[in-house]
Amino acid sequence: MSIEALIRQHIGLHRKGPGGDAHTLRAFSACAGLPPEPVVVDLGCGSGAATLVLARQLGSPVLGVDLCQPFLDELEERARAEGLEHLVRTRCADFGELDLPPGSVDLVWSEGAIYQLGFEEGLWRWRTHVKPGGYLAVTDAVWLTPAPPVEARERWATWYPAMTTLDACRDAAARLGLDVVDAFPLPRSAWEAYYHPLVAHSEAFRSDPDPGMQAALADLALELDTFERFGDSYGYGFLVMRKRGDAPG
Ligand SMILES: C[S@@+](CC[C@H](N)C(=O)[O-])C[C@H]1O[C@@H](n2cnc3c(N)ncnc32)[C@H](O)[C@@H]1O
Repeated sequence: MSIEALIRQHIGLHRKGPGGDAHTLRAFSACAGLPPEPVVVDLGCGSGAATLVLARQLGSPVLGVDLCQPFLDELEERARAEGLEHLVRTRCADFGELDLPPGSVDLVWSEGAIYQLGFEEGLWRWRTHVKPGGYLAVTDAVWLTPAPPVEARERWATWYPAMTTLDACRDAAARLGLDVVDAFPLPRSAWEAYYHPLVAHSEAFRSDPDPGMQAALADLALELDTFERFGDSYGYGFLVMRKRGDAPG
C-alpha cells in the first residue's frame, strides 16, 4: 500500500478517522480553566475535522499539524469557506519530532493519529510540550473486552500491534504524570461516520490501475469485515488528561 494511494482515497473526506463533533465537544468541555487565547495544537489534524470545531469553540487560533500537505490545503480551504481562516494555522511537520518549545502549549489535541507512535510513546513525546496544568485530549483504538476474539487480535496485530485497553491507557497516563479528567469509548456511529463516506468515495477507484490503490481497497475491505464481525470487541477511546504540576518532563 502506498501513502499516495491513501491520500487519494481520503482526499475530500471530512473525517479521515472515526469520530464526531459531539465527541470532540464533550472532550473539550472537560478541559476546564483554559486561559483566554490558549495555545492549542491539533496533531495529525488531517483536513481539520476537530481543528475547526475547536477554533469555533475557542474563538482563538488553533495550529493544525500534519505530514500531508494536501490535507492541510483542504483544512485551509474549509476554514476560508466557514469564515474561520483567521483562527486556523497549519504546519506540515512530523508530530513525532515537534518543533515547539517545552511547556509552551495549553492544549494538545489529536484524533485518530497517536497510533502512529503508539499511545504511551505518543504521550511521552507530546506531554513535554504541555504546560503544567495544560491538557492532552487524544483518541486511540482500544480493546473493549478483556478477551477479544483471536481472529480480531490477529488482524489488529498487523494494523496496530501496540493496541491496548482504555484501562491500560489510563495507567500509561498516570505513569507520565497525567490525570485523566474524562475517558469514554466512542459509539459505533463514530466509525460509521468515517466508513460510509470512505466506502462511497472508494467506489471511484475500483478500476484504478495503481497496485497501491488496489492494496488500499483490499485493506479497507478487510477492515470493514473485521468491523462487521468483531466491532463490539474494540473501538476508539477518547481520553482527556491534565498534566500535573509535578509531572516529569
Ligand atoms: C486517521 S487520520 C485522522 C485525521 C484527523 N484527525 C481526523 O480525525 O479526521 C491520521 C492523520 O495523521 C497524519 N499523520 C500520520 N503520521 C503523522 C506524523 N508522523 N506527523 C504528522 N501527521 C501524521 C495523517 O496524515 C492523517 O492526516
